[in-house]
Formats: sequence, C-alpha cells, structure tokens
Amino acid sequence: MLALTTLSLVLISLVRTVVGNIGNFKNVSYINPILPGWNSDPSCVFVAELDNTFFCTTSSFLAYPGAPVYSSKDLINWKLASNAISRPEQLPSLMTSNNIQGGGIFASTLRYHKSTFYLITTYIENPLPPTFYILTSEDATNDSAWSMPFAIETPYIIDPDIFFDDDGTVIVAYAGHPIKAQIIDMKTGNATETFDMWNGTGNGFTEGPHIYKKDGYYYLLIAEGGTELGHSGAIARSKSLRGPYESSPYNPLVSNRRTDEYFQSVGHADLFQDASGNWWGCALAVRSGPKLYNQTIFPMGRETTLFPVTWPKDGWPIASQIRGIMSGPLPLPNRNVSGEGLFAGEADVVDFVPGSSIPKHFDFWRTPAKPNSFTVSPPNKPNTLRLTASRANLTGDANFNATDGLTLVMRRQAHTLFNFTVDVELLGAEAQEGDEVGITSFLDQYQHVDLGVVYLSKNNKKTSPYLRYRATAFGKTNFTGIVPKTKLLALPADWSDDLVRLGISAINGTHFVFVAAPAARPLSSIVVGIANTTLISGPGNASGE
Ligand SMILES: *[C@@H]1O[C@H](CO)[C@@H](O)[C@H](O)[C@H]1NC(C)=O
Ligand SMILES: *[C@@H]1O[C@H](CO)[C@@H](O)[C@H](O)[C@H]1NC(C)=O
Ligand SMILES: *[C@@H]1O[C@H](CO)[C@@H](O)[C@H](O)[C@H]1NC(C)=O
Ligand SMILES: *[C@@H]1O[C@H](CO)[C@@H](O)[C@H](O)[C@H]1NC(C)=O
Ligand SMILES: *[C@@H]1O[C@H](CO)[C@@H](O)[C@H](O)[C@H]1NC(C)=O
Ligand SMILES: *[C@@H]1O[C@H](CO)[C@@H](O)[C@H](O)[C@H]1NC(C)=O
Ligand SMILES: *[C@@H]1O[C@H](CO)[C@@H](O)[C@H](O)[C@H]1NC(C)=O
Ligand SMILES: *[C@@H]1O[C@H](CO)[C@@H](O)[C@H](O)[C@H]1NC(C)=O
Ligand SMILES: *[C@@H]1O[C@H](CO)[C@@H](O)[C@H](O)[C@H]1NC(C)=O
Ligand SMILES: *[C@@H]1O[C@H](CO)[C@@H](O)[C@H](O)[C@H]1NC(C)=O
Ligand SMILES: *[C@@H]1O[C@H](CO)[C@@H](O)[C@H](O)[C@H]1NC(C)=O
Ligand SMILES: *[C@@H]1O[C@H](CO)[C@@H](O)[C@H](O)[C@H]1NC(C)=O
Repeated sequence: MLALTTLSLVLISLVRTVVGNIGNFKNVSYINPILPGWNSDPSCVFVAELDNTFFCTTSSFLAYPGAPVYSSKDLINWKLASNAISRPEQLPSLMTSNNIQGGGIFASTLRYHKSTFYLITTYIENPLPPTFYILTSEDATNDSAWSMPFAIETPYIIDPDIFFDDDGTVIVAYAGHPIKAQIIDMKTGNATETFDMWNGTGNGFTEGPHIYKKDGYYYLLIAEGGTELGHSGAIARSKSLRGPYESSPYNPLVSNRRTDEYFQSVGHADLFQDASGNWWGCALAVRSGPKLYNQTIFPMGRETTLFPVTWPKDGWPIASQIRGIMSGPLPLPNRNVSGEGLFAGEADVVDFVPGSSIPKHFDFWRTPAKPNSFTVSPPNKPNTLRLTASRANLTGDANFNATDGLTLVMRRQAHTLFNFTVDVELLGAEAQEGDEVGITSFLDQYQHVDLGVVYLSKNNKKTSPYLRYRATAFGKTNFTGIVPKTKLLALPADWSDDLVRLGISAINGTHFVFVAAPAARPLSSIVVGIANTTLISGPGNASGE
C-alpha cells in the first residue's frame, strides 16, 4: 500500500471488445484482475432482487476499516460499496492488537438470504484462538447498516462458509483435513452437530470451502495446495450433505500451478450465477510468473480475478483458467452502481475539502487509537489533512503499543505502473528534533520503504529539515537481497517557503523511485532513492497478507 495525503494514480484503462456471440449474449473480452491491488480470498454473490447486482468481499487482515464489500452490475466496474467493519466497537481488539502484523479479518464468505447479507469471517487476534463472526446487513451499500459481529461456536481453524439449506438448516463448513462442517443454531451460535465432508484431491492444505446446491447435488468447492505456487480450487459433489463426496473428473477446477503464467497462486475460488444464468468464478491470484523475476516481485500481493464457468445440468463445472485477458458472456457495461465509494483500480486526487471525510478506500493499520490525529480541513487550513505525529515511527520499537496510535493512512497500490504524490507543508519554528512526515510503500510495520522530511540538528547546527529515504525489511524472512542504505540530504534552502511534493513512481515492473520537489516547481525534482520492490513483496506468494 502507499501512504499519506493527496495522491494521483494513473492507470491502464480497461478494454472491452466484443469478440463473438453466444446465444443472446455477447462474448466479451475483459482484463484481470477485476479487484486490483491487495484483495485476497474473494467471495461473491449475485443478488437479482437488488437490481441484478453482484457483491464481493475480500480479506482485510489488520487494515481498518475492514471487510470491504464491492458491488458491480457488469462484473468489471466494481465500486467499494461498504466496509462491514467501520466502527471501532465492532472489533475492539483490532485497535489494541500489538506485536502482530498478520491478524485481523481472514477469508470471509458473503451470501444473501431472505433479504439479508451474511458475511461470515474469521477474526484472528493475538493471543489466539480465532473466532468465527457473522455480520449481517440489509443494505450492503451502507457501512452503518452492518451489524455488530455475532460470534458462533468456533473450532480452532479458519475459513468459514455459510450455507442455507432448503429446509432452513444453516451449515458452516471450514478449513481442515478433512474439510468439516457444523450445523449452527442461529439463535445461540452454538453448533448442534459436526461432521466430516471431504479430504480433497490429495494436494493438502484443504481450506476455503464453499457449499452450493444444484440439480439435487451438494457441491463442495475448496482451495488446495497452500496459498502459494501450488494453489488451486477443486470441487466435489454428493447427493447427501454429509457425503460421501465424489471428486470432479475435471479437477483442479482452477489452478496455474507448474506453469509460467503471469498469474500465479490461483485458488481460493467462489462460484456464482448472473441474471442470464451464466456461471462465473472469482479466485485470488498473484501477478508475477515464476519466470518473470523468479517470483520475487509482487508488491500488490494477492488480487481478485474473474473466470467464466460452464456448468451443464447434472454435469460438472468447467472453468476457463485465469489469464490476463479473458472473455466470457459478460452483462452489458453499467456503472450505475449505488454507493459512495471509488471504483476499484481508479485513479483519484484527494483534496480533503472542508466537510469531507477520509475516503472509505483509505486504510489505517489497525483501528486508529487516536482518530483526532487525522483532521480533514482543520480551522484555517482548508483542503488539507492535518496529521498529528505518533510517538512511534512506522516500524515501532520495543515499547510500541498500538493504543498510543500510529499516524499512518494509506491506499492500495492497484497498478504495476503508477505515479503517487503527496504535497506536505513544512513545519516552521515549532519543528523539534526527530519530527518527521512522509510517504511510504508499506507491506507491514516490518517491511516498508519511506521518504520523509525529518528535522535533525547535525554538526551543531540548529534543527533543520532533511529529506530521508530509508527501508525496513527485517520482516522478510531469510531475505538475502540488498536493503538500501539510509540516505539523508539537506532540504535545498530554496524549497523552504513552499509545499514539498513527495512522490513514488513505478518506473518499470520491478522498481519504485522516490522523488521530492518543491510543489510549485515539479521539474526541479530530485530522485532520492530507487527501491527494488522485492523489499515490499511478502516472504511468500501468500503475502501482502
Ligand atoms: C469467447 O471468445 C474467445 C475468443 O474468441 C473464445 O476463445 C472463447 O471460446 C469464447 N467463449 C465462448 C463461450 O464462446
Ligand atoms: C445506513 O444505515 C443506518 C443504520 O441502519 C441508518 O441509520 C441510515 O439511515 C442508513 N443510511 C442510508 C443512507 O440509508
Ligand atoms: C451454547 O454453548 C455454550 C458453551 O458451550 C453453553 O454454555 C450454552 O448452554 C449453549 N447454549 C445452548 C442454548 O445450548
Ligand atoms: C479422510 O482420509 C482419512 C484417512 O485416509 C479417512 O480415514 C477418512 O475417512 C477420510 N475422510 C473423508 C471425509 O473422506
Ligand atoms: C529462483 O528462486 C529460487 C528460490 O526461491 C532459487 O532456488 C533459484 O535458484 C532461483 N532461480 C534463478 C534463476 O534465480
Ligand atoms: C440507476 O439504477 C437505479 C436502480 O438501481 C435506477 O433507479 C436509475 O434509474 C438508474 N439510473 C440510470 C441513469 O440509469
Ligand atoms: C523506528 O524507531 C525505532 C526506535 O526509535 C528505531 O530504532 C528505528 O530505526 C526506526 N525505524 C524507522 C524505519 O524509522
Ligand atoms: C498498552 O497501553 C494500554 C493503555 O495505556 C495498556 O492498558 C496496555 O497494557 C498496554 N499494552 C502493552 C502491551 O504494554
Ligand atoms: C508517471 O509520470 C511520468 C512523468 O510525468 C510519466 O512519464 C509516466 O508516464 C507516468 N506513469 C504512469 C503510469 O502514468
Ligand atoms: C529461513 O531459514 C531457516 C534456516 O535455514 C529455515 O529453517 C526456515 O524455514 C526459513 N524460513 C522461510 C520462511 O523460508
Ligand atoms: C531485485 O531483487 C530481486 C530479488 O532479491 C533480485 O533477484 C533482483 O536481481 C533485484 N534487481 C536488481 C536490479 O537489483
Ligand atoms: C527497472 O529499473 C531499475 C532501475 O533503473 C533497473 O535496475 C531494473 O533492472 C529495471 N527492471 C526492469 C525489469 O527493467
């Protein structure tokens, strides 16, 4: 993710071309990913009664607001409709969870049943155990309409699915070998019965289950092979919910394992139908094939892709495998989607106009303990975001306590090539030793590359501003690459009456340059550092969390 105030991202426009007709439907080409940037573990549902709208949720881990829900009418233009977690009291420990970088909201399932959305998720805190929570809403385009989380009986595991059977039974399947399920009493949240479902096809790490009912069969779709290069989706069916489950002869349903495809780690899929009866799937994938950079460069982590599925009556589903350019019988283009959020992958310029709020696609790392550290258009400073420094820097130290706050606000990197800038105002005489403001490319507190203006008193001179570029990468397990040395440059004297523009630009598929300029004279920019983005590509393909 990229952090701090005003920004502009330039993106590649999505191309749609009609390449053929299938019955009444046009076979249209589209580009993956459909939810670009850090959007793992997608789960999607189609809701005919809400004007034929599709809704998807993805994992948000420690980010706040959490559990984003995107909506679309055409499967291509996805608007951030709501964040199911948007009030601190929904998950109080999302503010206080110290010493973890990978907890929070994991791999949810989104369903719509009798006019209500159900989002079931695993919440991981430190110390464990995990908790399965159900959040409900009658309006997935309204943050405030999401309920408080309702805890249900939780086995010591992740990845709950929620399935409403025709007889009113509510089944929660979850990860494990075999995949297991429990019948939930929705009044108490207690499990009344637990049973085994399926061992998978033998690739191990059976997780991410979803149950569907079609043509008299229960279908069980799972993720297999681990969320890294061996990842896949596999499906099985049975006439009885309790099995035995028969594996599809066409498994894996989706996978790019043992290929050099640009999209790797494909799996953790979900299936849904559109208004015309066509079947579709969503799956997570990571951009960067094994050949391209030897799988070392994937700063956006896991993203959400779309694939068409053919699923004949009484037959097995067959999926088109994930590629960058795919085609299928998409609904007609339609950007008339309700809600206030940004369309996923769109560029934006944020001016923090008076009366506005921090945009809902911006993220904090944990629920901010000191929300007043982020003030939109404070008195006498319209069209700015005032940040009040936290004691801790982005990394924190041994005394780091999340309840002291971390003054960091971010948005997702959604494109391989982009430009991101923030204009910062310099501190005047009130600057104190060590004060710092800046921008960062951030994976977590232990992996980030920063460019800031920092106030230091050096060589017995009085406190003055410097440009400082530095990288933190100790979170990258067993990393043998080069961590750039910290660079410090005195801020040019003739920059000091102006805003300073700090920027990050992807100059190619592997490197980001960190630049600074006086905002009024952008051509006077200087390159302060160039970072290999392996630094902010997680320790495994799974990463970026
Ligand atoms: C859609 O068009 C593509 C490209 O021409 C083709 O490969 C694919 O088979 C078509 N799909 C269907 C369902 O006709
Ligand atoms: C959003 O939901 C809240 C809580 O249910 C409700 O008070 C509010 O009126 C809703 N807003 C809109 C625009 O529907
Ligand atoms: C639900 O489970 C809890 C803990 O196991 C138990 O104390 C409680 O009595 C159960 N409630 C019902 C209605 O069975
Ligand atoms: C899973 O495999 C184990 C070991 O082979 C076997 O005992 C068990 O019955 C299998 N479970 C299911 C649900 O197939
Ligand atoms: C690719 O990375 C693997 C470790 O992940 C290493 O063993 C292998 O030598 C690398 N290949 C090349 C061509 O650098
Ligand atoms: C947008 O969709 C809503 C229903 O969701 C409909 O009432 C409205 O007329 C549509 N607007 C346009 C311009 O199509
Ligand atoms: C963060 O602060 C700690 C403690 O003061 C310090 O050791 C560390 O170098 C700082 N790291 C960064 C990247 O600012
Ligand atoms: C963090 O600070 C809070 C409130 O000041 C305190 O209750 C808590 O014990 C502290 N946690 C740690 C790990 O020091
Ligand atoms: C970023 O800005 C530079 C300089 O203006 C421009 O050459 C480049 O095309 C931009 N990159 C993108 C992805 O728009
Ligand atoms: C890091 O290296 C140690 C020692 O070689 C090894 O045991 C561990 O599995 C490695 N961790 C990762 C994430 O590769
Ligand atoms: C970037 O880092 C990767 C992984 O450590 C390495 O293979 C590659 O050579 C580096 N690129 C440059 C230009 O240093
Ligand atoms: C990207 O640019 C950097 C810095 O100039 C260079 O070292 C690296 O090799 C380039 N990577 C690619 C894939 O061209």
